[in-house]
Amino acid sequence: MTDLNASNVSPLATLPGANIFLIGFMGSGKSHWGKIWASVNQLTFIDLDEMIENKEGKSIASIFETHGEDYFRRKEAEALRSCEGLQNTIVACGGGTPCFYENMQWMNDHGLTIYIASTAEEILQRVLNEKEKRPLLKKLNEQELLLFIDQKVKERAAFYEMAKVTVMSGLLEDDSLPAIISTTTI
Ligand code: S3P
Repeated sequence: MTDLNASNVSPLATLPGANIFLIGFMGSGKSHWGKIWASVNQLTFIDLDEMIENKEGKSIASIFETHGEDYFRRKEAEALRSCEGLQNTIVACGGGTPCFYENMQWMNDHGLTIYIASTAEEILQRVLNEKEKRPLLKKLNEQELLLFIDQKVKERAAFYEMAKVTVMSGLLEDDSLPAIISTTTI
């Protein structure tokens, strides 16, 4: 049995494409855990939203305002595909990434997709203070926000559930990644 914690063995060594895509709703902890797991396992971390912001020279909020959501989704699909060829990398996707341009299929073909699932209440608590940077949320009050999150999570479930592994956000820890990887046989 491979010791995934041995310092000279990358936990990604067993994965085709050797990349991990973290998916899940806004505020589910994709960037938070992506950064921690990359650091603990000596992997590279990439945040897809940040990649788009750097390429466009604008914040996500400003891209939505200036060019609209369709434009953003095209840039998002392009940014995702530019990850082809990366190795030993954890990519934190945007909450909507799996739902457009067959991105979910592409991610499943190019690495390990991990769905970080959360309840609507957990998501609400995490996004309440960060609404401004999220164009889909910023105009909603707390009550509207909970309804929106609940509806959108249900709407997106079919995409999120295509992930190869699903984990509950509340159970995650700094050293969870090797154990998560070992639950999959891809
Ligand atoms: C979005 C999620 C955001 C960002 C954009 C759209 C979505 O990313 O990509 O605001 O459609 O759920 P985070 O999930 O990192 O907040």
